[in-house]
Amino acid sequence: MSLKLVLAVSLDGRLAPPGGGAAQLGGAGDRRVLEQALTWADACLLGAGTLRAHRSTCQIRCPQRLEQRLAERRPAQPAAVVVSRGNPPPGLDPSWLFWRQPLQRLLAAPAGAAALPPAGFEQLVPFEHWQGLLSGLKAAGFERLVLLGGAQLASALLQADLVDELQLTLCPLLLGGAFQWLPAAARLQPQRWHLLETQPLGEDELLLRYQRSGNS
Ligand SMILES: NC(=O)c1ccc[n+]([C@@H]2O[C@H](COP(=O)([O-])OP(=O)(O)OC[C@H]3O[C@@H](n4cnc5c(N)ncnc54)[C@H](OP(=O)(O)O)[C@@H]3O)[C@@H](O)[C@H]2O)c1
Repeated sequence: MSLKLVLAVSLDGRLAPPGGGAAQLGGAGDRRVLEQALTWADACLLGAGTLRAHRSTCQIRCPQRLEQRLAERRPAQPAAVVVSRGNPPPGLDPSWLFWRQPLQRLLAAPAGAAALPPAGFEQLVPFEHWQGLLSGLKAAGFERLVLLGGAQLASALLQADLVDELQLTLCPLLLGGAFQWLPAAARLQPQRWHLLETQPLGEDELLLRYQRSGNS
């Protein structure tokens, strides 16, 4: 089981501009390393807030990567696991591209809500705590997980100490505003991370990959 947090962040650590909305911070190099992570993944987790902002999820476009997955007898796209407190999640619209994307859709919601997946989702993964969510996904056959954000979901899984790798694309922007990639309210135990890779991605972007190396 492995969980990789993949984000594009500004130089001042923002995920989105001050007005919020559907942030697209990264360029072509970021797209390439994002697709590399998607190709590795069995499933991608995204907070319902990110889905409401983008109305779709990230998918692999590169034909070689799609062929690679099919040659490995894996679905062309990783599944999308939307995390919400609601079943159904509030504020989703049936006209969004998300429902037409060629991928498996799962809803992860706290146990105790409705027992069946809502319309549009093939599967419900009920959970009581974050470790339980990962165990539920493992039981459903999803072991390689990419966490696509946003900040609320990323901080919850980091607080629960369940993220194994950080893949951050540092984008040459200063954005200011409230949308830090880890909200100021996040309560983390001090953690030390081990640098796995740095890679200039072109257009002044830099890839940073860190692996969890224990409590400091
Ligand atoms: N730059 C990047 O790489 C990147 C990546 C992703 C997102 N973003 C940006 O980030 C923003 C969205 O981030 P966000 O932090 O506002 O939202 P988010 O983390 O995507 O989603 C928050 C939602 O997750 C659900 N959630 C949170 N905690 C939960 C819990 N304990 N149990 C069950 N569900 C829980 C809730 O959904 P319900 O309200 O449905 O209950 C909550 O409203 C957008 O502007 C987006 O563009 C940027």
